[in-house]
Amino acid sequence: MLKRISALILAGATALTMAGCSSSDGGGDSSVGGGADDGKLVMGFAQVGAESGWRTANTKDIQESAKAAGVELKFSDAQQKQENQIKAIRSYIQQKVDVIAFSPVVESGWDTVLKEAQNAKIPVILTDRAVDSKDTSLYKTFLGSDFVEEGKKAGQWLVDQYKDSKDDVNIVQLEGTTGSAPANDRKSGFQEVISADPKFKVIASQSGDFTRAKGKEVMEAFLKSNPDIDVLYAHNDDMGLGAIEAIEGAGKVPGKDIKIITVDAVHDGMQALADGKINFIVECSPLLGTQLMDLAKKVVAGEQVPQRVVTEETTFTQEQAAEALPNRKY
Ligand code: AHR
Repeated sequence: MLKRISALILAGATALTMAGCSSSDGGGDSSVGGGADDGKLVMGFAQVGAESGWRTANTKDIQESAKAAGVELKFSDAQQKQENQIKAIRSYIQQKVDVIAFSPVVESGWDTVLKEAQNAKIPVILTDRAVDSKDTSLYKTFLGSDFVEEGKKAGQWLVDQYKDSKDDVNIVQLEGTTGSAPANDRKSGFQEVISADPKFKVIASQSGDFTRAKGKEVMEAFLKSNPDIDVLYAHNDDMGLGAIEAIEGAGKVPGKDIKIITVDAVHDGMQALADGKINFIVECSPLLGTQLMDLAKKVVAGEQVPQRVVTEETTFTQEQAAEALPNRKY
């Protein structure tokens, strides 16, 4: 009898614990002590936010890929705030998920929480953005683009465009989120290439936080204080699209009066490129989901994975955008 009562109490307690651990897609519960009770791998994913078309496509791809791979996904949106991402990671540690993946909003300040995950023996995968931790054992692998290379591609297009010109080229730059890997690296890669020729002058550079609204606001300010802008380099399509509104509002023609280079190649950016309002886009693929699920399964199984997995990407001119647009997935 006593045995039966204890069994009932245990069953009730287990049900209560499980009810507190639901996944983002509404299905599946994580079991006590880690992993899903149905044998599914459980991933806690701490997303940056929903700041851009790129991010929306990335979130959708991760959610769809998890479903396709039979991975139970616990998903959180940090609204571009590091403290929210840290909170989400701590909650995944408490829930004893099998693996944690996240796209760090900024590069610095992760060591403490990553150490907590390591102590709890929960492997961590970085996706999209890097951290600057010296201790690389704090994460298993980093899957994402080479942002320095993206900046270099943007700079190279500019150098090629102006190769026959002797005049100064006045450039304004819309930087991504301050302290983020893509903002740091796209800036340094671009600078490295253009600095070979002193005629390229970055006359103003400011963060537009990767959003359309901020891109518009900062470009309006640039236009007011700089009457002779030749080129805009925006670290993503969304800021470039916001800037286009500001340029048109100032009575100038985007793509002609001011040449525009952006990064991402999301649908709206590609449309603006095909329409002649943007001149060149460096692709940054948000489709990281399938590779992420594959890496997660290997990491949880204790298999060796490469420390760095770089995404394959290309670039688009206006003609190439018009051709590629009908087949783009995002
Ligand atoms: O980290 C990738 C960057 O983040 C994308 O280029 C940008 O659009 C997003 O917000």
